[in-house]
Order: sequence, then structure tokens, then C-alpha cells
Amino acid sequence: MSIRPTAYEFFAGGGLAGLGMTGIETIFANDMDPAKARAFAANHPGTPFRQGDVWGLTTADLPGRPDLAWASSPCQDVSLAGARGGLEAGRSGAFWGFWRLVEGLTAEGRGPRVVVLENVIGLLTSGPKTETGRDFAAVCAAMAQAGYTVGALEMDAACWLPQSRPRLFVVAIKGEAPRAGGPGGPFHSPRLVAAHARLPETVKAAWAWWRLPQPPRRNLDLAALLEPDAAVAWLDDPEGLLTLAAPLHRARIAAALASGRRAVGAAYRRVRVENGRKVQRLEIRFDGLAGCLRTPAGGSSRQYVVVCDQGRVRVRRLTGREAARLMGVSDAYRLPPSESAALKLMGDAVAVPAVRALTEGLLAPALAGGRAAA
Ligand SMILES: C[S@@+](CC[C@H](N)C(=O)[O-])C[C@H]1O[C@@H](n2cnc3c(N)ncnc32)[C@H](O)[C@@H]1O
Repeated sequence: MSIRPTAYEFFAGGGLAGLGMTGIETIFANDMDPAKARAFAANHPGTPFRQGDVWGLTTADLPGRPDLAWASSPCQDVSLAGARGGLEAGRSGAFWGFWRLVEGLTAEGRGPRVVVLENVIGLLTSGPKTETGRDFAAVCAAMAQAGYTVGALEMDAACWLPQSRPRLFVVAIKGEAPRAGGPGGPFHSPRLVAAHARLPETVKAAWAWWRLPQPPRRNLDLAALLEPDAAVAWLDDPEGLLTLAAPLHRARIAAALASGRRAVGAAYRRVRVENGRKVQRLEIRFDGLAGCLRTPAGGSSRQYVVVCDQGRVRVRRLTGREAARLMGVSDAYRLPPSESAALKLMGDAVAVPAVRALTEGLLAPALAGGRAAA
């Protein structure tokens, strides 16, 4: 019999949350997407997985008594990049399908001690125009009413990996008293502090500013994760794409070429409004980071690698394996055979080292009964 703490992984995708929850055993996972289900099974063959809508599950489908329930619920409706319908709208309503199960388990005396919701930063402010932050307040209020102490952290994968990927982790822990200490930890961003200030007093009474150790300085940059130049397919004629670069971005390329050193950058096509007109732009960064991986829904969501070397500029698409490395996944991870499926899997996922830092610094100590907040 296992003596490790146990977890359920909801909205599990390819199971990256489980990869980061070191020392915690996933005893049940769920996702509705068949491609995600295949990726999960290929990489976690021994873990019970149920493919289907979370709203189709009942507590009878859930084995044992979990110590922790993890939800990486879909972010489209709260993403700043998308239509801001809010958590109760469309797919993001799936969070409530998950929460209904937590309530059911609690009623049966097998509720998890710890609940984690991972989402985009837009959750801090999403809601109707007149009610900024309504969704965040609704989530925290539900957790507080269920007897949890609630806090949140804004963690950027860039602390550990060469990818800019800020994400919100709402962490609810039972049996941890709310603490008087204020914000100030490495993951208490101004956006989070502002969102906390908007919460109703009843929710603030159940709030804790969870603290994690300051992560060590990142020692990896984008170039270190890329395939060798000779192993990848470069665009035959990148000029058309490069002409989409706005003056600032052209200047970045010029500076990279002028440096005489090999410079590796990352680029996305984006639609921008200039002089009242929508225009396609290529936006390039040479700061050692990739842009936030996104799911390939159209051409603009595909990330490019730009290499300036020996007076020339070469451009190619980021590969699925490189995307996996940018999420902190080892090369032993089995990716789907199609590049677009691999990119979708990784673009949707949670960065493994962020989950690991959260687990080691907060979740595991809380499950072991240690102190978790300031
Ligand atoms: C943001 S992704 C999370 C991915 C995961 N954390 C990982 O590391 O791969 C959200 C996932 O929720 C799944 N999903 C969306 N709506 C769902 C629903 N109603 N029931 C079950 N799964 C759902 C999607 O298929 C997607 O894989």
C-alpha cells in the first residue's frame, strides 16, 4: 500500500502537473480530449485515467481518498488574449464541474486537504466590465466557504526555464490557519496584491499569503534548448516574414547582426492595430527567452526561432520537442507523432519546474503538516 500522499489530476492534458508533483502519487486523472488522453496514457501507463467531460463524472468514479486535487482548468474564457466571458461562461465553467466533485467528496468525508487551481493571470481581473475580478472572488469564496484557507501565487516559468509564461496558482489548504502576514514573497505580484484588495472581507478573512523560497537564478537560455542547426528545417525564404517586423523589431535584428556574434531569438506573428488598421506584425525578442507557448489554433500561434549568424538571418518554426523542453519536460517524454499535436499538448500545459517548486515549497510541507504561510 502506498504511503505517499495522493492526488487527483483534473484537466490533466499530458500529465505535466503530475510530473512536477514529486513525491505525490496521482491516483486518478481526467481530461475530455482524446489526443490528450493518448498522450497521458503513453507517458503515465500505470495511472488510472478517465477520458470525458468533468461534468459527466460523479464521486463514484473517483477512487480512494485524495490528499490533493489539482485543476488546470481551461483558460480560454479568462485569458486576456481571448473573449473575456469569465469563469461561468463556456468552457471555463468546467472549473465548477470540478468544484462540484470536491464538494461531493467533502460531503462523503473524503475531501482533499489541498486544492490547487492553475490558470492564466487574466483570472485575477476577469468578470463583467463593472465587476473586475468577479471570477477570482467567486473561486476564492467557494474555497473559503468550504473551510479552506486560500492564497495565490503568480509564478512565471521564466524563473526556471527560458520561456515567459506567467500563471496563477490558487492554493486552498484545510487546517492551515489564515495568517496575519502581508504580501512580499517572490510570487506576490502587484497584480495579485491588487486582486486580493478587491476581495470581499469574508474571503480576506480566510486568506493566507503563501510563501515559497526565492528560486535560484535561472542558468538556461533559449539557445541551450534548441536542436542542432543541421537537424531542423529552415524557411527557404524568410524575407516575406521578416518584412512584417515593425521598426523596433527590425532594429533588434540589425543590432544582433551588427554584434558579429550568434544571436538566437524567438518570434511570433501578431495582429496589431496601427493607425486604425489591423496589420500583421512579426515580433522578435533576443532576451534569451521564448515567448509564452500557445496552442496552435492558427498561423499566428506558431512560434519561430530566429538565428542571426555570420551576417545572415535564418528563420524556422519551433519544434514540438523544443516546446516540450521549454515546459521542463525531459526528452524521454513521448510526444504525439504530429508536430501540431505536440505543440498543442505543450502549449496547453503547465511548466513542470513551477509545479515542482510549488510542491516542494508549499504543497508537500502542508500535507506533512508543516507551516505553509508567513
Ligand atoms: C489548460 S489545459 C491543462 C493541461 C495540463 N495541465 C497539462 O499539463 O497538460 C486544459 C485541459 O482541460 C481539458 N478540458 C477542457 N474542458 C474540459 C471538460 N469539460 N472536462 C474535462 N476536461 C476538459 C482540455 O482538453 C485541456 O487538456
